[in-house]
Amino acid sequence: MTHGTTARALSTDRLHASLTDPALDSMNFLNEVAGRYPDALSLAAGRPYEEFFEIEDVHRYLRRYEHHLTQERGLGPAEVRRVFFQYGRTKGVIHDLVARNLAVDEGLTVDPDALVVTVGCQEAMFLVLRALRTDERDVVLAVAPTYVGLTGAARLVDLPVRTVRSGAGGVDLDDLAAVVRQARAEGLRPRACYVLPDHANPSGLSLDLATRHALLDFAEREDLLLLEDNPYGLFSAGGERLPTLKALDTNHRVVYLGSYAKTGLPGARIGFALADQPVTRPDGSTGLLADELAKIKSMLTVNTSPIAQAVIAGKLLEHGGSLREANAREIDRYARNMKRLLAELAAAFPAGSGVTWNEPGGGFFLVVSVPFEADDALLELSAGRYGLLWTPMRHFHDDPSSLRQLRLSVSLLEEDEVVEGVRRLAELVADRRRDAA
Ligand SMILES: Cc1ncc(COP(=O)(O)O)c(C=O)c1O
Repeated sequence: MTHGTTARALSTDRLHASLTDPALDSMNFLNEVAGRYPDALSLAAGRPYEEFFEIEDVHRYLRRYEHHLTQERGLGPAEVRRVFFQYGRTKGVIHDLVARNLAVDEGLTVDPDALVVTVGCQEAMFLVLRALRTDERDVVLAVAPTYVGLTGAARLVDLPVRTVRSGAGGVDLDDLAAVVRQARAEGLRPRACYVLPDHANPSGLSLDLATRHALLDFAEREDLLLLEDNPYGLFSAGGERLPTLKALDTNHRVVYLGSYAKTGLPGARIGFALADQPVTRPDGSTGLLADELAKIKSMLTVNTSPIAQAVIAGKLLEHGGSLREANAREIDRYARNMKRLLAELAAAFPAGSGVTWNEPGGGFFLVVSVPFEADDALLELSAGRYGLLWTPMRHFHDDPSSLRQLRLSVSLLEEDEVVEGVRRLAELVADRRRDAA
């Protein structure tokens, strides 16, 4: 349809307030810059390495799941047809396999009925935030810098986000206590704290074991839920992993948000919420938070594509439920890239250069601090003149310190591209410093 001159423009002030919030523009802006400079080297993308993906894998995964349904679960042809082709169970059809995956890879014993299989982790975040927001007194806390998907989802449901400092250890517990106190003093109700305990996006930080326990104790004392988002947990560079918060959770404090985007395949758009919190209803009956999330889902996406679920199921089945095993090559690649990135940064920016960075134990991301503003305008210049994409930290953080920080990602690169990326970054930094002198 053409936009006729007689059409009355719909002003954004007559649309939901989130639509003018920068958080909702962030991903579009970053994708748009990347789209305009397709030849630029991307140390920006948080996408998984894609050279290992094969179309044939998808066919094989579907056949593997079909085999599982017929041979291992005894379903007849009509039932199998229904599972693949029909509207399905709102909470998902692969919940048993997700539960097995969590047992194998995370040591979690999970009631499959406490799972909701979602359209990516993004939908899981939305469902939980929607459920928690009862009125204008509710707020959610989030460790800053914060993944924009969380901030954006919170905006959609009119749930303010109060940020908590990450400090050097991934979450500053004193600041968390202060933020909770302050919110309550204002008559607000902090409902939950969103946290990425393993190789966080964007900071790369992880929580040590003592901090995990302390966070759970705090949540228990203060009657808060913890929203644990864990897309990068498998990608520990040293191979050693700490237990998830959910694995340490003895009292249903943690809603675990899962994503198969980095460990399965992002195009399937499969994630899940593990929400085993008991819920009481007005009629006195009880259920699980997962059932309440499913009610919201039934009005949002109805159910997650069973075909997409079948693809992930096939991948899980092919590897005995272990995505750690399925991702052996990826785990190795990310670890090598991260090691190389750290080595190249150290070589390019000696002490006193004014450029510093953190040293994550794995994952996709690290944060570089530079002695000038690393804003959207500089990103444009970097992409156009230096052929280099990175992410301004301002997109994840309101704090002024973030203006001089950028996020680098190693996930999409070959090792020689990591080297070239740092060379281009060093060139950009040198030119900026010369211009400023
Ligand atoms: C921290 C974090 N949570 C959630 C997601 C989104 O996951 P999904 O693609 O499953 O919606 C991402 C994707 O980049 C992420 O970095």
